[in-house]
Amino acid sequence: MDKLLIEGGQVLSGEVAMSGAKNAALPILCASLLTAEPVHFTNVPHLNDISTMLRLLGDMGVGVTMDGVDGLVLNGGGLNNPVASYEMVKTMRASILVLGPLVARGGEARVSLPGGCAIGARPVDQHIKGLQAMGAEVKVEQGYVHAKATRLKGARICTDMVTVTGTENLMMAACLADGETIIENAAREPEVVDLANCLVSMGARISGAGTDVIRIQGVDKLHGATHSIMPDRIETGTYLCAAAITGGDIRLLKTSAAYLDTVVDKLMDAGCEITVERDAIRLVAPKRLKAVSLRTAPYPAFPTDMQAQFMAINCVADGVATIRETIFENRFMHVNELMRLGANIQIEGNNAIVRGVDRLEGATVMATDLRASASLVIAALVAQGETLIDRIYHLDRGYERIEEKLARLGASVKRVH
Ligand code: EPZ
Repeated sequence: MDKLLIEGGQVLSGEVAMSGAKNAALPILCASLLTAEPVHFTNVPHLNDISTMLRLLGDMGVGVTMDGVDGLVLNGGGLNNPVASYEMVKTMRASILVLGPLVARGGEARVSLPGGCAIGARPVDQHIKGLQAMGAEVKVEQGYVHAKATRLKGARICTDMVTVTGTENLMMAACLADGETIIENAAREPEVVDLANCLVSMGARISGAGTDVIRIQGVDKLHGATHSIMPDRIETGTYLCAAAITGGDIRLLKTSAAYLDTVVDKLMDAGCEITVERDAIRLVAPKRLKAVSLRTAPYPAFPTDMQAQFMAINCVADGVATIRETIFENRFMHVNELMRLGANIQIEGNNAIVRGVDRLEGATVMATDLRASASLVIAALVAQGETLIDRIYHLDRGYERIEEKLARLGASVKRVH
């Protein structure tokens, strides 16, 4: 099992390019199931989760061809097996995103329930409720969701809570339904908008993506298209935090601050100077950050996927910060590991009180989930001495070549097998 060995104390500086967004690419690759024609994707990140999704789609009969460095052509014409097995789904819960497209295109899907993960139970009841509202007959048996429909019918759906992949699944299903579907209480995340833009380029008729009411006029079929995946705003935010904690000065390329307003605001509150360019963002950090409190909530509020990274920078900031996690019930797995590095954090329900300390000490720590791993990397960059991070397969799911990119910025980091 790979580990990351990080020597703290380097100040990050220089430039590095960001990759395409994992959480946009995952639903967008599933959109290839909605048409028999080839769909061409560019700026696809090289991540374990993406490889898993491509294996899953390949098992269903979708043709997958690489096209240059970050390009792919997916051909749903050969779809012949509407099953997502437990073996595949248990490694990546985003596999649930094949459910809507399979029912819409082929009238049937058998998708294993994803099961929980480190950060919470992560049920998919809203995905099922929406498909039932569109006329699908859905049974959950032996750990599988079995959905059937001759043709989905447009419906008005209001999800009980804001769900990103729930909104994405239902939006994809509605593209081929008979009539209009209205999704209320829809997720407004930029990745939902990127998916909608891809679907529209394939001939779908969608309006309101990015707001909490999305209208989809079903069509008989979709056609091929070319789509470039949007930049990864969470990867961008993660590197901004890495530079901020080290008092660094970095410029991130092939990205945009457009979808990071709340993260940029919080970094400025912490004392960073941020310059936004058309497709780059620069951060100059102070010697020591000021503590910043935050509360996670659906977009456009502060993203839960940046909560762990901000907890790390608060560990050595000047002051006390309160971090409230409102989306997932167990997204503080990084706290115990950060405390092994010397952090002073108290958990009270879904609040974490972080008292900034003067310095952290390197230690051996363990990654528990994707963004928790990122927070350990950020803390390790300033911990005195060496930090060894175990189980970094979590990191590889969502960060492309992280040790290379950090080393390019001056960090002392290496992967040990
Ligand atoms: C997406 O997960 C992201 N994953 C997550 O990113 C992100 O943390 C999350 O949205 C919130 O922004 C992808 O896009 C692939 P939700 P998702 O459905 O869609 C509850 C990362 O680190 N809920 O918006 O699974 C759920 O339990 C990952 O990149 C139901 O109860 O999250 C949670 O408490 C982690 N029933 C809340 O809603 C449902 O049917 C929001 O979950 C669906 C969700």
